[in-house]
Amino acid sequence: MPYQRVLLTGAAGNLGRELRTRLAGRFPTLRLSDLAEMAPAGPGEEVVRCDLADASAVAELCRDVDAILHFGGQATEAGWDKVLAANIAGAINLWEGARLAGVRRIVFASSNHAIGMHRRSTTIDHRAMAAPDGRYGLSKAFGEDLAALYAYKHGVSALCIRIGSSFAEPADARQLSTWMSFADLGRMVEVGLTADYTYEIVYGVSDNSRSFWDNSNAERLGYRPADSADRFIETHIGKTTDDPIAELTQGGTFSSSEFSGDPDALP
Ligand SMILES: NC(=O)c1ccc[n+]([C@@H]2O[C@H](COP(=O)([O-])OP(=O)(O)OC[C@H]3O[C@@H](n4cnc5c(N)ncnc54)[C@H](O)[C@@H]3O)[C@@H](O)[C@H]2O)c1
Repeated sequence: MPYQRVLLTGAAGNLGRELRTRLAGRFPTLRLSDLAEMAPAGPGEEVVRCDLADASAVAELCRDVDAILHFGGQATEAGWDKVLAANIAGAINLWEGARLAGVRRIVFASSNHAIGMHRRSTTIDHRAMAAPDGRYGLSKAFGEDLAALYAYKHGVSALCIRIGSSFAEPADARQLSTWMSFADLGRMVEVGLTADYTYEIVYGVSDNSRSFWDNSNAERLGYRPADSADRFIETHIGKTTDDPIAELTQGGTFSSSEFSGDPDALP
């Protein structure tokens, strides 16, 4: 499936900068976009500043694009106004712009926080019901459903990657379960761009023995993680928080923040 022009949103962000480097030279043209300033365009690159909340600007951004890596948006918990503009209106604008432009595929940076209220003691797979652990997580669950609408109804195929914790190294005990190396993120994005599918959900996680997730759907699509958080077990094991809801749930402190529910009722 040759792509002439691929659009990366969130190109100024942590993962966007990683992907920009890893994707250099991979396509004839890589269009990089963000609200924030980005490094100037190199060979084979286009740089376009754009607010995802601006529908007409996003429609223009999608023109002449074959595939999109959608990594832009509010990336942590925030108030409704920010989440609504960047992640809900922003996602609607992006998928609608993609449909109008004839984009064939979107790889979506979803999040484990779409299912963060699930208990750590339950190993879940891609079929688990959504259980967002906050407004941010809800916006990712919405993005996944929006992707399904456009995939099945309009033929814009989508891979929703529920990214765990993608940083240079795991930062704490929870991330021994949720960590995804940048190299494995690159591998998953490659699967997203090249595998044969209409709509799929996978977990964005390395080969961690302590993972909360059964990621057989990603493996079925061809994902072969080469890294693991296991080599950091000695560094972080036992360094748990004194926050019982965070320790009970997959979303950790995202779940315990503002929590006023019944722990026994959690899925
Ligand atoms: N890093 C992780 O571990 C992780 C985990 C789960 C999901 N994700 C998702 O992956 C994506 C990238 O995450 P990141 O860690 O690089 O976050 P980041 O905050 O570093 O990058 C997000 C980028 O989106 C841009 N952005 C925000 N609002 C925008 C708007 N209205 N219009 C255009 N651009 C806007 C920001 O300027 C920023 O550069 C996000 O969608 C995030 O939710 C990341």
